[in-house]
Amino acid sequence: AVQPPKPLILKEPEPEVDDGKKKVTILFGTQTGTAEGFAKALAEEAKARYEKATFKVVDMDDYAGDDEEYEEKLKKENLAFFFLATYGDGEPTDNAARFYKWFTEGNERGEWLQNLQYGVFGLGNRQYEHFNKVAKVVDDLLAEQGGKRLVPVGLGDDDQCIEDDFTAWRELLWPELDQLLRDEDDMTTVSTPYTAAVLEYRVVFHDPADAPIEEKHLSNGHAVIDAQHPCRSNVAVRKELHTPASDRSCTHLEFDISGTGLTYETGDHVGVYCENLIETVEEALGLLGLSPDTYFSVHTDKEDGTPLSGGSLPPPFPPCTLRTALTKYADLLSSPKKSALLALAAHASDPIEADKLRHLASPAGKDEYAQWVIASQRSLLEVMAEFPSAKPPLGVFFAAVAPRLQPRYYSISSSPKMAPSTIHVTCALVYEKMPTGRIHKGVCSTWIKNAVPLSKSQDCSWAPIFVRQSNFKLPADTTVPIIMIGPGTGLAPFRGFLQERFALKEAGAELGPSLLFFGCRNRKMDFIYEDELNNFVEAGALSELIVAFSREGPTKEYVQHKMMEKASEIWDLISQGAYIYVCGDAKGMARDVHRTLHTIAQEQGSLDSSKAESLVKNLQMSGRYLRDVW
Ligand code: 2AM
Repeated sequence: AVQPPKPLILKEPEPEVDDGKKKVTILFGTQTGTAEGFAKALAEEAKARYEKATFKVVDMDDYAGDDEEYEEKLKKENLAFFFLATYGDGEPTDNAARFYKWFTEGNERGEWLQNLQYGVFGLGNRQYEHFNKVAKVVDDLLAEQGGKRLVPVGLGDDDQCIEDDFTAWRELLWPELDQLLRDEDDMTTVSTPYTAAVLEYRVVFHDPADAPIEEKHLSNGHAVIDAQHPCRSNVAVRKELHTPASDRSCTHLEFDISGTGLTYETGDHVGVYCENLIETVEEALGLLGLSPDTYFSVHTDKEDGTPLSGGSLPPPFPPCTLRTALTKYADLLSSPKKSALLALAAHASDPIEADKLRHLASPAGKDEYAQWVIASQRSLLEVMAEFPSAKPPLGVFFAAVAPRLQPRYYSISSSPKMAPSTIHVTCALVYEKMPTGRIHKGVCSTWIKNAVPLSKSQDCSWAPIFVRQSNFKLPADTTVPIIMIGPGTGLAPFRGFLQERFALKEAGAELGPSLLFFGCRNRKMDFIYEDELNNFVEAGALSELIVAFSREGPTKEYVQHKMMEKASEIWDLISQGAYIYVCGDAKGMARDVHRTLHTIAQEQGSLDSSKAESLVKNLQMSGRYLRDVW
């Protein structure tokens, strides 16, 4: 039977009922869905263990409409869990940003959370400087404000196996919850692997003759444009920025936003929903053994709209063909989670393959998983190719095996003052050989590199995009000095800054001094936007351009070396109230630049190490040292 596709409806909040059950709230701050998945998995397993309690999983942003409501609601909680991811420069996810700001900025609340027992699980990556900062800060503050910590803060490390960290944390939690939530007569031990919960879904097959409606959710002309409501935007211009002498590629791309209602500010980020390459989709179709024209939709609720199992799936996508679903909605190239391996095992017709998959996902297979899947960066498709008998049906594949393809974020490299109707992106091509020998082509950067611009064809490329605000902004007072440090594509937001300063100057504003430290390999290969930068200097939008070429001379020269050469000038500007901006790679460059700033403060200001440290910290706290790092 052909069913008309269902519109995606946002549900009204459920009314609170007092059924005598203990209420547990599980809040999540998620960016890519992992924290949300863990929050739901905890709820599912807890539901099975504790019949006398109810568990509610809530997006941090939906929890309360404003700060007052946060306070009101938290005050009423007796038992709450927080799943909080840390991003970039120690920042919360978008949906936890409002809560985090309110919770960390409010002081003198006293011990107002004395009714609360809580646990915090953090999601982060140990390679980064601010490993799990958000979770640690919230965990400490909850205790400081009177809450009782049930388990030590969980420090999930995405660099290793974050699912194992979650499992370990959860094992610490059960004995505590047993004491709080279990009845005397209810002491049976239930142990469901957390992955069991994600398999409830309903697939509806549609008549392929139905007009494709899959682009309906695009918000052109819609009031709000955000990650859930991106707007279709054409590619207006595309240019290669490296010279032919370079063996790498970096693309300058302009999205046309005229008539879309989308606006942006200098320093913001653009989120781009890209598509998998045709070759990747073909490979997936082959492995699944299903017809590319199957026209279907996946639902997490029953036909009457009630959730199947608390809505354990990522948000469903609109009805479309299998080819489209694989192209737009499935992450096929990341390494599969252990839960995905279990879902594959459940649908492997060969028992040996099923056993192997289960082993990889089990505690006994921990090292093998770490080596064979994670360290070798084996993609989901590569894993599926090794287990050809595992052919999950559609619903399982999209619900439990392949995560949703996530939007990619880029620092916008233009200013609306100069480019009001386009958003510029500066994107380095990701093209790497993986340990398994697979050539990994970055999903979005490859799409960007190959995009067909309107200047070439009316039938140009387009993508659903949206803007994410950032606090990476020029000082409001144009006369305040600025120091910008951005090697490689870290230059992107500074091109926007300079466009803005150029426009301000044209309009008669007085500009303070500005330094830009840029780094690349070789002047003849990857000195991107060279002419534009020189023009900014000539026009007085930039006082000085300082470039480090890392592969021209016998030794590497990086931006931080150039900063040391200019130490006294930098120190002078800092003393005059300069703002410092760093953009680019967080693991290497931003860390080294941070150390260099510290050294400059020490040497130029004749400060001891701890005084220099607190000076740099103060710059950071007062918003004068800003970083846009990844
Ligand atoms: P490399 O590739 O020669 O090592 C933009 O990517 C520039 O940043 C390149 O010149 C690159 O040099 C340089 N770079 C690499 N690691 C860096 C680090 N830790 N600090 C500063 N610059 C770095």
